[in-house]
Amino acid sequence: MQFFPWKEQYSLNISEIDEQHRMLVGMIDKLHTAMAEGRSKGVLDDIITELYNYTKFHFITEERLMDEHDYPALEQHRLEHKKLIGKVLSMTERKKENTLGLSSDLSIMLQQWLNNHILETDKRFSEYLAGRGITI
Ligand SMILES: [Fe+2]
Repeated sequence: MQFFPWKEQYSLNISEIDEQHRMLVGMIDKLHTAMAEGRSKGVLDDIITELYNYTKFHFITEERLMDEHDYPALEQHRLEHKKLIGKVLSMTERKKENTLGLSSDLSIMLQQWLNNHILETDKRFSEYLAGRGITI
């Protein structure tokens, strides 16, 4: 069974964000699979770096779109993103000698975080746009 399958309810009808969420879900799944299949430290490190960079890029995209559309909850949303980055950095720091443990912890934490974040926090932005008749 796939660790982190894409679910239809993740779709927010915001094409740029949906596309990036699909990428993130795929990357988290890839990290978990690589760890479970016993891939080397180098492979896992590369996936983690790629995932970290893509997550930051994705947050910038979301915050830009929210800013462009005067989303009133932008600051609150930005804070959630910032907290997640802080959590990833502290986990990475704590487990820097243990890539296997880090990969496991990170994939599980990110899977839960992204699932909840999309379905609750990101969804509110999508509802805000829909309520104003904005399609992006
Ligand atoms: Fe978000």
